[in-house]
Amino acid sequence: MSSEPKQVPVQYILGEWDFRGLSLKMLPPVFIPRPETEELVEWVLEEVAQRPNVVEAQGGPLILEVGCGSGAISLSLLSQLPQILAREEKASQVIAVDKEEAAINLTYENAQRLRLQDRIQIIPFDVTSVGSWTHLLPWGPMDLIVSNPPYIFHHDMEQLAPEIRSYEDPVALDGGEEGMDIITHILTLAPQFLKDSGSIFLEVEPRHPELVSNWLQSHPDLCLNLVAVRRDFCGRPRFLHVQRSGP
Ligand SMILES: C[S@@+](CC[C@H](N)C(=O)[O-])C[C@H]1O[C@@H](n2cnc3c(N)ncnc32)[C@H](O)[C@@H]1O
Repeated sequence: MSSEPKQVPVQYILGEWDFRGLSLKMLPPVFIPRPETEELVEWVLEEVAQRPNVVEAQGGPLILEVGCGSGAISLSLLSQLPQILAREEKASQVIAVDKEEAAINLTYENAQRLRLQDRIQIIPFDVTSVGSWTHLLPWGPMDLIVSNPPYIFHHDMEQLAPEIRSYEDPVALDGGEEGMDIITHILTLAPQFLKDSGSIFLEVEPRHPELVSNWLQSHPDLCLNLVAVRRDFCGRPRFLHVQRSGP
């Protein structure tokens, strides 16, 4: 291990960072939102725009975000989705979950900072914990699940920049042997929460489209299909649209 002093990420020094025009509070060790994730949000918004029946009937889609971190994805989606009237049962459009207390607290602070707290439910939840998902059932069924999960292959963790390894939570980054640990848990749980034809949008790394496609083919009981893959601004396949197709 190098003894060189590690530079504190500028986002943590400033204490705030911009994500799609929203100024979010940043606090170590909560994951700093990356520019690629703005493209994931854009794709979800495009999908919502193509489902006007959902927007008109319900005032907006019901979305679950797994692994909310600072709240970047959830709050950005909420800030752009149509406002709904404060009818009690429709007052929330996004359920944001994370297993880390620091992330839950920061999402809460950012929701307040952006005055979006009335439209988001922020719930401590570990997607790998068997049985805990039953707590989420009363909120469903969801139109969409979105996640930028920890997806780095475990053996690639040591290649990360020193300031990332020193300051950002490894729980936010390390996806296990093939970066699939949290991805497969999300896919396994998804059919419990999604409406018929509901969608899952995931940020992944370039080896994952094939790995996820193979994994879904070996789990036909989940009735999930990889229907589209999108490239990031560097041309790498980084975003997946998985759709529920059956009962
Ligand atoms: C890559 S970060 C993404 C944070 C934020 N969504 C973003 O894009 O900036 C992944 C997040 O997943 C959370 N996470 C990791 N394992 C989890 C689990 N088993 N259940 C729920 N959340 C988890 C981490 O705490 C972290 O906040």
